[in-house]
Amino acid sequence: MKVTVVGAGAVGATCADNIARKELASELVLLDIKEGVAEGKAIDMMQTAALLGFDTKIKGVTNDYAATEHSDVVVITSGLPRKPGMTREELIGVNAGIVKSVTENILKYSPDTILIVVSNPMDTMNYLTLQTSGLPKNRVLGMGGALDSARFRYYLSQELGCSPADLNAVVVGGHGDTTMIPLIRHATWNSTPVTNFLTKEQQDKIVAATMVGGATLTKLIGTSAWYAPGAGTAAMVESILRDEKKLISCGVALEGEYGQQDISLVVPVILGRNGWERIIDFKLSDEEQAAFNKSADAVRNMNDVLKTL
Ligand SMILES: NC(=O)c1ccc[n+]([C@@H]2O[C@H](COP(=O)([O-])OP(=O)(O)OC[C@H]3O[C@@H](n4cnc5c(N)ncnc54)[C@H](O)[C@@H]3O)[C@@H](O)[C@H]2O)c1
Repeated sequence: MKVTVVGAGAVGATCADNIARKELASELVLLDIKEGVAEGKAIDMMQTAALLGFDTKIKGVTNDYAATEHSDVVVITSGLPRKPGMTREELIGVNAGIVKSVTENILKYSPDTILIVVSNPMDTMNYLTLQTSGLPKNRVLGMGGALDSARFRYYLSQELGCSPADLNAVVVGGHGDTTMIPLIRHATWNSTPVTNFLTKEQQDKIVAATMVGGATLTKLIGTSAWYAPGAGTAAMVESILRDEKKLISCGVALEGEYGQQDISLVVPVILGRNGWERIIDFKLSDEEQAAFNKSADAVRNMNDVLKTL
């Protein structure tokens, strides 16, 4: 199996590191536009192979798309990250140009690949990729739900004083501070609803913390986070390449599911060798569906900005 990660910055390099440590691919290409960065990071990671005992061959290249030929999965992380006080939406103009040109270059060498879009604002970047790639909809996915759901499980575990691994919790909607919807009513602690153990006040606190989880870290670090985003993306790559059929929230094209169409939003899907294979209907309550529709309106407004670029 071969994976390419475009953008050897914080998220791209962390994602590549996770993929190599887990030996999800035999070949891994790291590509960046900045001379030498991908090469250097690839060599640095290869120098951990003797210590960590993995066999994945990592190659770094500067804008050499021929090296990405026949990639089974391509992760796109190229683009600007947000700075403190910035929203993901403010990145749209610059990142749209980068994501579009990267997609076109990738498809020249891997026309049947599966694309995972990480660059922000993810919902709009994934919509753009769906429109410009011409790939079947199942082969274009946005990463955001894997991360936001992991953050949701973290905040739940902090309040419950338990292991995040014992929790199941899903975020749907948009991948934005005001558009994501942590579905607390559906969250469980080893099969028991977490709402059995938390007051309404605690539940509201967890949901609010999850929604601004990215902004909280951007404020602390000075740029956007990378460990959980890298791990969330690698988890998607793992379920695809190992055909695990894991249920992971991903940005996908909706055609009537969850009452929406002509849009990419985060919903729970089954991930396997063909990309996303099935959308799971979580049967939202009227209140949850209203929040989902509101997110869709906000994301659609953002998608409209693409027409002005
Ligand atoms: N979807 C999510 O959940 C999520 C989470 C975290 C970050 N992000 C987004 O991911 C993106 C990357 O974040 P980061 O922290 O790694 O940023 P970063 O600045 O560390 O890395 C971005 C890299 O992209 C490279 N790049 C820029 N234009 C390129 C091009 N045309 N071709 C190839 N490489 C190019 C840059 O040289 C840089 O190395 C940002 O847009 C950020 O907002 C998304």
